[in-house]
Amino acid sequence: MKKILCIGAGYVGGPTMAMIAKKCPQYQVKIVDINAARIDAWNSDNLPVYEPGLKEIVESTRGKNLFFGVDIDESIKEADIIFVSVNTPTKTFGFGAGKASDLQYIEKTARNILAASENGKIVVEKSTLPVRTAESMERILNGSNKGFRFNIVSNPEFLAEGSAIADLENPDRVLIGGHQSKEGLAAVEEIAKIYANWVPREKIITTNLWSSELSKLTANAFLAQRISSINSLSALCEKTGANIDEIANAIGKDTRIGSKFLKASIGFGGSCFKKDILNLVYLCEHYGLPEVASYWESVVKINEWQTNRSVKRVLRSMFNTIAGKKVAVFGFAFKANTNDTRESPAHLVVRELLEERAIPVITDCKALPDAKRDLNDALDKVQLTEDPYEAARDAHAILLCTEWQQYRDLDWKKIYNSMSKPALVFDGRNILNGEELKKIGFEFISIGKA
Ligand code: UDX
Ligand code: ADP
Repeated sequence: MKKILCIGAGYVGGPTMAMIAKKCPQYQVKIVDINAARIDAWNSDNLPVYEPGLKEIVESTRGKNLFFGVDIDESIKEADIIFVSVNTPTKTFGFGAGKASDLQYIEKTARNILAASENGKIVVEKSTLPVRTAESMERILNGSNKGFRFNIVSNPEFLAEGSAIADLENPDRVLIGGHQSKEGLAAVEEIAKIYANWVPREKIITTNLWSSELSKLTANAFLAQRISSINSLSALCEKTGANIDEIANAIGKDTRIGSKFLKASIGFGGSCFKKDILNLVYLCEHYGLPEVASYWESVVKINEWQTNRSVKRVLRSMFNTIAGKKVAVFGFAFKANTNDTRESPAHLVVRELLEERAIPVITDCKALPDAKRDLNDALDKVQLTEDPYEAARDAHAILLCTEWQQYRDLDWKKIYNSMSKPALVFDGRNILNGEELKKIGFEFISIGKA
């Protein structure tokens, strides 16, 4: 039985390996992590990652051909193929601070693989990485005189959180990049063979290593750029009486533009978009392309401006004074169907509310544990509750920051009756029926509508 190992049991490694285990009973799949608590959680009923459908897959494969552990060295020794899925956050210190990727976890992992291995293996970059990272990995892995060689393959993951299982089950494409040498091509084919168990061959794209690494950054930059484009125009809509949802619908019908990712919002969040674009910006600066760098940097700047100006708009409609007022924040996750709060616009909103000395009451059906961690320094100034009705009671305003389906289905009349008046709803995701809410008596603001 071939042994696949994944180093890093996070939002990418966990779901991806669970899907491989489900689709490929002929492989033994193991996931290791330095974080023992996280591994314990993967081995329990309370998984550390919430994704619709994930629990069922883990429960049907765990202990059969899917295993979670902390025995990293032993697992490396036994593995034939190693996926590297450790975190690559933005660097916070030294050269490139605030933009470049911090590759210390990748480097440590490469050194760990080299030290524990007794034969050559295929090493797959799963984490999103700057273009040419494989070169550094190779220098570490193949720079010793151990007498065997490693083959590096790039296989970026395109799953989106909240729909990870559906994305893995039916991907638009699988991308695999490798060296164009005989060994490199054989390694690419070895990885393609895994996916071919459930993904049609024509959806499995193979490229050279550098194209694969750069495609991932490019895909995320393009997606984020669409959101910043629509969000920038949402501000013009608010000034002119045009309606951003109507515009998105009208332009999205043009097949050259397409209808997806045109939803105006309070801003994009998540662990990828900002980090990956800043990484791209850093790379362009590094290679002497300042015009390209500033073009992409503006996507991040517009995003920050969008969140910021939204809060200011809410403040204006509350007479610029919210000190001491209870303000309910509906949703803390960066999008619906996930417990992930990384770079969530809701977090920025809460920080701004705290600056104004309001009392934020946060509600979310999955993300409260992470919210508690993120707001660790301000827990005496915020309130957290799973119940949206409780969050809204006596509040002067509700700021809807995450598009959870349940917020569409609330008894808004009941909510209105329990709030302080005038009661304001700010729909930061454009999912609510504003006309209905106004009929109930709410003051209502949404994105991109006058
Ligand atoms: C993204 C990419 O979609 C995925 O391919 C890549 O592998 C990782 O990064 P993710 O960050 O999980 O995935 O979620 P995504 O669905 O892309 O949403 C990102 C943010 O953009 C969320 O905050 C979401 O609410 C926001 N968004 C998305 C909008 O504001 N408007 C839209 O039209 C779409
Ligand atoms: P992603 O969203 O990319 O999956 P996460 O932060 O959710 O990122 O997961 C990355 C995981 O990698 C974390 O659980 C972290 O503990 C783990 N990790 C980081 N460095 C190492 C390492 N050297 N060995 C094993 N696991 C590691």
